[in-house]
Amino acid sequence: MQQDDGSWRADIRAGTEGQETPLRQKVTIVGAGNTGATMAQILAARGYADVVLIDIVEGLPQGKALDIAEAAPWSRTSSSLLGTNNWDDTANSDVVVITSGVARKPGMTREDLLSVNAGIVRSVVGQAAKQSPNAVLVIFANPMDAMCHVALEASGFPKERVVGQGGMLDTARYRTFIAMETGTSVKDVSAWVLGGHTEATMVPLSSNATVGGVPLTQLLPAAQVEAVVNRAKRGGAEIVDLLKTGSAFVAPAVATIEMVDAILLDERRILPCCTLLDGQWGITDAYVGAPVVLGKGGIQYVYEIPVSDAERDAIRAAGDAVKELVAATPR
Ligand code: 2OP
Repeated sequence: MQQDDGSWRADIRAGTEGQETPLRQKVTIVGAGNTGATMAQILAARGYADVVLIDIVEGLPQGKALDIAEAAPWSRTSSSLLGTNNWDDTANSDVVVITSGVARKPGMTREDLLSVNAGIVRSVVGQAAKQSPNAVLVIFANPMDAMCHVALEASGFPKERVVGQGGMLDTARYRTFIAMETGTSVKDVSAWVLGGHTEATMVPLSSNATVGGVPLTQLLPAAQVEAVVNRAKRGGAEIVDLLKTGSAFVAPAVATIEMVDAILLDERRILPCCTLLDGQWGITDAYVGAPVVLGKGGIQYVYEIPVSDAERDAIRAAGDAVKELVAATPR
């Protein structure tokens, strides 16, 4: 439709007034950097949701959204894309993904971003929650576990509707490295990364990792298993060191959109996501990566799966570490 300023723009919810359930779902991605734009591209190609890309930088979300929209005739999607600097355009989103914030540079840890990103996340989550009070928030900004606490507080949403990615990405990396080490297809690798999304707190589980149903610990010598575990923990830093100017964005975007699929298609997937624990492994009131059932409305269930004693201790340490970060987060 024609806008007041004379420009033309599709109102992606036009015609849905009065309908109990709009025909198409709406996802807002906050932050139009590499990660947000890649998420928008992947999600648009899925075709089941319309996508709003919002950023504070004028022209950036508009340009990226237009570029992705112009690919649609060949990528065969009918999703509409809107790039904007105006929060009103995000109203009534079903899912809001928060990618805003600063990415780390070589030599930095994710924890180094705490102060700067806490302010940004608090501000954008406040806006997002006001516009989309029923949305599920998917938190990507780092340090991700602590940013989930910031988002929970800033949104006032129930914990089921504030979920962090992290385990999703770390699990993808772990499975990739296991496949590389064993010379097998990543499709046949089953493995989980729980705990936190920092090098110090990540817990790649070896006790229940399998390749084609065979325990990883029987396939590889202990030293090689340990090397794979350590490479998974440094997975993000390995990319930062190579790129030198920013962090990974393709695997992170794919991992995050897998979560959006699970929520909006109500797939009830069991996925490793960051959630506010409530007694699992003895941890309460801390956002920690755990296997969750992800579907309509966000987190439907959290599983406390059996792990080795050492792994349980490491998951508990992740809970303690995120509580320390939360205590150090500027208000
Ligand atoms: C990563 O691990 C950006 O935290 C993200 O690459």
